[in-house]
Amino acid sequence: MRNKKTIITYGTYDMLHIGHMNLLKRAKALGDYLIVGVTDENYDRSRGKLNVSESTKKRVKAIEALDFVDKVIVETHKNQKVEDIHKYNVDVFAIGDDWVGAFDYLNEYTHVEYLARTEGISSTKLRKETFDTIKLGIVGLGRDTEAFIDEAKYVSNIKINRIYADDFLAVKEFTNNNDTIKYGHANYDEFLDSSIWAVYINTSLKKHYILIKKALEAGKHVLCENPLTLEKGELKELLSLAKKEKRVLLAALKTAFLPAFNQLLRELERGTIGEIKEVRVTRTSLYKEKAYPDSFIEQGATNLLSSYTSLLVNKVLGKSKDITFFDDNESGYDVSNLIITKHKNRALGVSKVATGLKSEEDAIISGTKGYVYIPAPWWLTKTFYFRFEDTHKSYQFTYEFEGCGLRYMIAEFSSLIQRGKRKSKMLTLSDMIGINRVLLEYNENKKENKKKEN
Ligand code: CTP
Repeated sequence: MRNKKTIITYGTYDMLHIGHMNLLKRAKALGDYLIVGVTDENYDRSRGKLNVSESTKKRVKAIEALDFVDKVIVETHKNQKVEDIHKYNVDVFAIGDDWVGAFDYLNEYTHVEYLARTEGISSTKLRKETFDTIKLGIVGLGRDTEAFIDEAKYVSNIKINRIYADDFLAVKEFTNNNDTIKYGHANYDEFLDSSIWAVYINTSLKKHYILIKKALEAGKHVLCENPLTLEKGELKELLSLAKKEKRVLLAALKTAFLPAFNQLLRELERGTIGEIKEVRVTRTSLYKEKAYPDSFIEQGATNLLSSYTSLLVNKVLGKSKDITFFDDNESGYDVSNLIITKHKNRALGVSKVATGLKSEEDAIISGTKGYVYIPAPWWLTKTFYFRFEDTHKSYQFTYEFEGCGLRYMIAEFSSLIQRGKRKSKMLTLSDMIGINRVLLEYNENKKENKKKEN
């Protein structure tokens, strides 16, 4: 009796279509046992495939339901194909002929077959036909405005063509010099009255609350720079409004959407470093906003930067029970702040933020079996190291990202709108509330202290 012949193939298989089915049947016909590797969403995003509309789970389920497929695995990293070929004793690696040449290197390990692709259909085409183009307007001429416009070009089905800022001359100058944005507004109501579906808010922090509120009331989805709000009660109010209006309200915390950051959280969930006891994280910036009409800098380090450190601390340790601040607050402006948070199981968050001094912006997550080191700048997460007392066991992950990282956040925002979902799994409502709580408490303390002084 001859041995069974094992075939392996890989793909994203978003919105499973006839082209995928034909390919898989052709692959199966080459042997007896067909293994299909479905690409994981973080891996897809790290290799530039940003617009996949279905989750890994959903795509895996769809392939599992096919009776000619014998096994489904998830592909999470670049070298996995070689590992799988050895692991499953693969006889043939099959893939569509749009990839001719790309996998010749695998001939060293198995036989590579490029199979005829079905003409006239692709997931990209289906996504274009299924989802309408989101019209998005920009609010504010902030630091990231231009980068946001450039990065949005990499997200399909999103079109930016309007901008609002209260400085009319600055808006005019911007639209005159910008190829993408044609319409400028200095009146917010008029801007919201236009055909836009969604807004990206990047203004001085103090204006966020009212601008978000008005946009939600006008039925627009909102992506807003951090922090979303500065006063107690405001964020919960806005989140209820978003719920009532059935609109997305998402914090523009780009780190939360990076492929490597999400992979890091997934690896930690597996318990590799044991029980996590401490997160140490630093975020500093010497940046001055003077060149832009919407200046943020007057707000101090905690308001400006603690959303980043709180993101890591909250994601890894859960919400904080107790918060202590060690700041150098002079006349209402904190140059630096050391924020210690207590979490369940006596875990500690140690966050340092500063706007007037520069430090090493790395992060260390310590557990009972080992630790993770994320080199600076940790918040542009690419590489992270798992380290143990036995140094031979240490390993590292690298998930590259394209551009300045904003496109992953824009892709998530657009995907939520397109799928009619309000809540992001990468940055949940309780993540946003927990992150905001740290700076709210700081602002409350400042107010109390001022009252006492007077
Ligand atoms: N495939 C095919 N015929 C098509 C589309 C895809 O044979 N019309 C094959 C690909 O060559 C690959 C597998 O199906 O071997 C999975 O491809 P995938 O990239 O997931 O599908 P696409 O429709 O090409 O997706 P996208 O448009 O997002 O690139």
